[in-house]
Amino acid sequence: MRPDFFQTSSPDSGDPAAELRAGIANSQAHVPPWYLYGEIGSRLFDVITVLPDYYPTRTEAAIFTEHLPAMAKATGIQDCTLIDLGAGNCEKAPKLFPHVQPRQYVPVDISVDYLRGVLTQLQREHPDIEMVGVGTDFSNNLVLPDCVHSERRLFFYPGSSIGNFDQEHAIRFLQQIKSQLHGDGALWLGIDLIKDHQTLERAYDDDLGVTAAFNRNLLRNVNRIAGTDFKPRDWQHVALFNTRQNRIEMHLEATNAVTVTWPGGSRHFSAKERMHTENSYKYTPDAFRELLAQAGLRTVGMWTDDQQWFAFFAAVSA
Ligand code: AVI
Repeated sequence: MRPDFFQTSSPDSGDPAAELRAGIANSQAHVPPWYLYGEIGSRLFDVITVLPDYYPTRTEAAIFTEHLPAMAKATGIQDCTLIDLGAGNCEKAPKLFPHVQPRQYVPVDISVDYLRGVLTQLQREHPDIEMVGVGTDFSNNLVLPDCVHSERRLFFYPGSSIGNFDQEHAIRFLQQIKSQLHGDGALWLGIDLIKDHQTLERAYDDDLGVTAAFNRNLLRNVNRIAGTDFKPRDWQHVALFNTRQNRIEMHLEATNAVTVTWPGGSRHFSAKERMHTENSYKYTPDAFRELLAQAGLRTVGMWTDDQQWFAFFAAVSA
């Protein structure tokens, strides 16, 4: 059997150059976090996930190791259609296969090209599971091809990626998932919990400077797309926990006064002026249960680690 592949929306829709320039020209300069990724950014992110300071990935993996059978039992879904949101290198979902016995596996990522090689290999290892790779910007519009089965859907959204959305966006996103559960489906999703601020800030400003490189590399992506002339060496990585909003914020701070130009425009930054590049929201279990409820989802289980640093939720339609 060979996997099928679909691209249901273009990763380049809209006018990214104009949107980027408008964000940079804003009095509070900002760049959307998806510009952190790309050839170098995605590799740097892979390195971040194995850093001692970045606890979420290994903590989530430990929760899986201990609780996957209980999670499958609580949700009661077998022979499922497993929809893996933000699948990337499809590393996590295969660990679920023995527990939820998928009939169909549907990894979804922004571009189907990311999925081709890895899914073709995975199909060889699991010839009995029908595999469909989908490229779509699912964070704004979750459109799945008609061949994705509508029965017993299990949406899997690990890694606390929902934390990169503000609450309003997170609720809209969860509502989209709910509308595609068709009554008998479920959602499994990882979130990062509020903890001491030092642990949080170290996770986003690691000793080796990998997260700093990840953040500054965004400027190279912006230069390529918006025609700007940012010099990464003029910018310093800042990560701080905003206690009012319960979120880690990443910024790039100008080390000296600098003027950034692009065709038809420019923006002056004073020394120490910041450009906001990412939010990563942290939750209490109760606050996240409430967010799920606001999207019409009912929590059927929550599993966490000994230190209560990370949690995995299972939810169904309310
Ligand atoms: C992808 N996302 C869940 C990561 C996070 O923790 O918010 C992105 C990241 N940014 C800096 N380090 C990791």
